[in-house]
Amino acid sequence: MPTKYTQQYLDNILSYDAMNAFIEAAQNYVNARIAWGEGKVPYGYRGGWSGFQFFFNRETTKKNIIAMKKVLKICKNSRTLLSAKKNRIRELKTEFSEGGRGIELVDAFLDTSFSESSAYVASGLNRSQSFIITDSQFYKKRKALGDGGFGHTDSFESDNGNRLAIKHVFNGGNSKNALEFEMKIFNRVYQNLYVGKFASTQVQSSEQVSSLSRTKSYTSLLESGRIRKIDTKFGKRDVVNSVLMPEIGGTSLKDFASKNPKEFMVHSDDIFLNIFNFLHELHFNLKMVHGDCHDDNVMIIDEFHNIFLIDYGEAERMTYYNQMNWSAMMTADLLMGLSYYIYLRQLCSGKVKKTVSRDQVEGLCKKFELKRWMGSDGICYDIALFSYYQLSFITKKLGYMQKDW
Ligand SMILES: Nc1ncnc2c1ncn2[C@@H]1O[C@H](COP(=O)(O)OP(=O)(O)O)[C@@H](O)[C@H]1O
Ligand SMILES: [Mg+2]
Repeated sequence: MPTKYTQQYLDNILSYDAMNAFIEAAQNYVNARIAWGEGKVPYGYRGGWSGFQFFFNRETTKKNIIAMKKVLKICKNSRTLLSAKKNRIRELKTEFSEGGRGIELVDAFLDTSFSESSAYVASGLNRSQSFIITDSQFYKKRKALGDGGFGHTDSFESDNGNRLAIKHVFNGGNSKNALEFEMKIFNRVYQNLYVGKFASTQVQSSEQVSSLSRTKSYTSLLESGRIRKIDTKFGKRDVVNSVLMPEIGGTSLKDFASKNPKEFMVHSDDIFLNIFNFLHELHFNLKMVHGDCHDDNVMIIDEFHNIFLIDYGEAERMTYYNQMNWSAMMTADLLMGLSYYIYLRQLCSGKVKKTVSRDQVEGLCKKFELKRWMGSDGICYDIALFSYYQLSFITKKLGYMQKDW
């Protein structure tokens, strides 16, 4: 059980942001000790005896007050960045007495990653379990979702069944700016191609619907300002930043194909038509490219094989600077889709073929209506020419994929 001020801090994250919750708890800690020092509170009230050693004395309390006041000053300095604040607070830890309430509160604060409206408190001293507080709701860890090259993702659930995914980004991975960009893109795609399309069927309770429509941003970047250790499949890894996003329920295409190869063979056309439809909306309505649409980043979200692409770590928005390359960038998404269709069909049917014919590619382009991308101002004049030009790329890509079998 956390002690009084830590508890106060944890409770207050629900109503304020983590920084203000900490400032209030720390201020209460200081005030209570000053009151005691001035004799306003009976002596025994401060914890009494423990193992025949007196818990508190005026000297240590005075030192603790001074240390906490220094911490408060650092927190209140609006010009100092979070990471610098946390580094200096960590240095001040030696000035507190060990085992006291002050240091416990400071540790809880240092263990929190937060944005203005959300906080993630790592397990450890505070509670037996990590938890997230966002939109005034308490979320508990449900399970690990996956380990990617750049981070570890966990699923968290609130009492009323809302789910969030938190991706802990390994130290040395994407910068804070890159992560903010990734979350912005995820948020926009999620609002347009998930909430706008599926929320009414996916979300059951009216409480959840209202919490969806109330929230404007579904994503945030949680900064901890210091390195934390996170448990992953590959052991403990160092993490500085974490990103919060809605969990996309369902099965990844990779899992779906490897666990149900027969079913994949039956539904692969539906699945990939949904992928190309998604890419079309992404490219033309949202003016974005995904940049990494492999089978682990495709989520099959329901029994109709609707899909949603996750992981916008490589995504781009069309800008003045990249518009000259925009055709090539859209082409890359399409080629990834076509290559995975061929690859997964071969994998699931057990019929490995090293070569692809131009007719085959042209047939797939027709099946998935890639004509939508063609034309005099499209990515290529027509499907026939597109298949002719891209055949060698798809063959090469297939070769790489088959090496990993
Ligand atoms: N929003 C999400 N909903 C559900 N699962 C997710 C979500 N984000 C990530 N995952 C799971 O975690 C894995 C790794 O996340 P991803 O964003 O792809 O990270 P990386 O950039 O390391 O590839 C994914 O393949 C997926 O299984
Ligand atoms: Mg990924």
